Amino acid sequence: MELVDAIKTRRSIRGFKQTSVPENTLKEILDLARMAPSATNCQPWEFIVLTGESLEKAKRVNIEQSNQGAVISLDIPVCPPNELPSPYVDRQNALARDLFGSANIERSDKEGRREWQSRGKRFFDAPAAILVCADEKIYNKRHQISLIDIGIVTQTIAILATEYGLGTCIQQDTVFFPDVLRQALGIPQSKRLLVAICVGYPDWNFPANKFERTREPLDSMVTWKS
Ligand SMILES: Cc1cc2nc3c(=O)[nH]c(=O)nc-3n(C[C@H](O)[C@H](O)[C@H](O)COP(=O)(O)O)c2cc1C
Repeated sequence: MELVDAIKTRRSIRGFKQTSVPENTLKEILDLARMAPSATNCQPWEFIVLTGESLEKAKRVNIEQSNQGAVISLDIPVCPPNELPSPYVDRQNALARDLFGSANIERSDKEGRREWQSRGKRFFDAPAAILVCADEKIYNKRHQISLIDIGIVTQTIAILATEYGLGTCIQQDTVFFPDVLRQALGIPQSKRLLVAICVGYPDWNFPANKFERTREPLDSMVTWKS
């Protein structure tokens, strides 16, 4: 696939076929993604690939935490959604409208919204997921540039997955409870769980994989200075 096509066709996939992803394919993707650039070539990323029972365990503990109303405590600080300033909150609301609209979930449909949140916590029922991590020695309060590297490698994985006919969704909602995930999966405390990528073959009949995505116009984000 041409690079431009891969960039255009990649979109967040939230409904998957249950076909498993060959381990070798995941390995090839990660092997290529290692070529991503990073500040001073630190390569701060580490990957934990979840399939089978470990993925089921991660889903289980995520759902348990969510059902118990556990406090979200991401390893990356984020502003609570209701405190996001405009225009970002407006874009977030537009996404929610598109997502829930595509799934026919009304604003008043609390049960529908709850089930949608649960799907997220279950990695959208993808057959595989990659936890993108960094050791606390390289990602910590004093040293945050590695987050840029993590972002780059994450997008590299998502683009490469497209080349293999796979779909992905980069997710923060599956790493809302990192302490519990670390404990359940036997991940050392020193590993920060920064983001997850669920991976699988897209179910193109799933409505949330089909709505039209929006982006701000180029002119609104570029300042030309000559
Ligand atoms: C860091 C990051 C975290 C994200 N977390 C979630 C998430 O928790 N749940 C979700 O459904 N999508 C999540 N997304 C996907 C975004 O909603 C999506 O990228 C955005 O709406 C643009 O749509 P597109 O990826 O289909 O182009 C995340 C994306 C990024 C980059």
